[in-house]
Amino acid sequence: MTEKIKYVGNQLFIEEVPAEELAGQYGTPLYVYSGNQISKNLKQLQKAFSVIPGTRILYALKANSNPELLRLISSMGAGADTVSAGEIFVALKSGFPPSTISLAGVGKTDRDIDFALSREIGVIIVESNEELKVVSERAVALGKTARVSLRINPDVDAHTHPHISTGLKENKFGINIDRAGETAKRAVQMKNIELVGIHSHIGSQITEHSPFEEAAESIRNFVLGLAKEGIKINQIDLGGGIGVRYRNAIKHDLLPLEKKEEPLIDLNTLARVIKEKLSFPGCDIALEPGRFIVAESGVLLTRVLFKKKSADRTFIVVDAGMNDMMRHALYSAYHQIVPLRLEKSEFSLVDVVGPVCETTDAFAVQRELPALKRGDLIGIMTVGAYGYSIASNYNSRPKPAEILIEKGSARVVRERETYEDLI
Ligand SMILES: Cc1ncc(COP(=O)(O)O)c(C=O)c1O
Repeated sequence: MTEKIKYVGNQLFIEEVPAEELAGQYGTPLYVYSGNQISKNLKQLQKAFSVIPGTRILYALKANSNPELLRLISSMGAGADTVSAGEIFVALKSGFPPSTISLAGVGKTDRDIDFALSREIGVIIVESNEELKVVSERAVALGKTARVSLRINPDVDAHTHPHISTGLKENKFGINIDRAGETAKRAVQMKNIELVGIHSHIGSQITEHSPFEEAAESIRNFVLGLAKEGIKINQIDLGGGIGVRYRNAIKHDLLPLEKKEEPLIDLNTLARVIKEKLSFPGCDIALEPGRFIVAESGVLLTRVLFKKKSADRTFIVVDAGMNDMMRHALYSAYHQIVPLRLEKSEFSLVDVVGPVCETTDAFAVQRELPALKRGDLIGIMTVGAYGYSIASNYNSRPKPAEILIEKGSARVVRERETYEDLI
């Protein structure tokens, strides 16, 4: 539940700030984030995993890399999980110490690798034998030692949407667990390579702890196998993937109750399971959550342009499009939609769609919503993760502004793009 975004009476507030006021002042579409929600979620994770001393939380920048959000997250002691030289650059500029940054990614360019080596980041996560060879060559060329983790693919079903499932053997990610032992033996022989850890990331929006448990079991056996070969590692990174609840992010008597509410992972159980399976002397645990930390903090404010009836559908056309928030178009992702000002009304079935020239440009299909008309303001909930970070200029639409609410007041943390920015 999104605790820091809620109704006071019939008006939606982000912390102490009325959402309508923000839409009026900064225009729509508009991303608004609650700083308190981000801190709350991060603290919750840190607390649950404090049962495993030394656990490191590496925030996955891909979820949202707004530098002001990153500053908040780095100030709370998290490290950074990055997937490109660009993300390393942003992480460094946003206060993450180099030693707390990891670089993952199935297709790193030589430029990515050189950037990581020259900035002396904590670890490069390697996903193939060929990549390992290139990292070694680049490290020799630059006179550096590359601290390397091997991303293993444990062939575990994360029970999530196929587009965000990454730990199955048919996925492109990681080194097949049956072959990774050979890669590890190779790594310890290679020039300028220090093998420090094992990594796995099985998918995103995981809502039960059993896939993590299965992955942890495979990693345990793998690490024990390495130990028999005399290879000792000092870090196990279990990746990200902890899911959030998109349905009923906000409850109110004047809103429909959403069906099929997602289950949630109990963090204390997850921490206990990981502790049981993966406690090895001298070996730390790392996690790379993105969505869990930022998703609930964000709401996308948008205005209804038109209400349009066709033969058998009613379309609510809004001024945000799939270019601003792509998750529904990409994975049919569900986001609760709420009016910024609630009034007593009948609910009816509508499609909430954007202005972009694609049939997939929708935020909700056949959704029961309170009555909406031209000019009404609505909020698309739980968009703090994979919202702005996947936004584009498709249809030559300038990207929205981003607002952060912190210490009771709102400030622009990214300006709305202008038409000039498009050229
Ligand atoms: C390697 C890796 N780590 C962490 C994450 C973050 O996942 P999530 O936002 O679900 O926590 C991802 C997401 O794709 C990833 O690929």
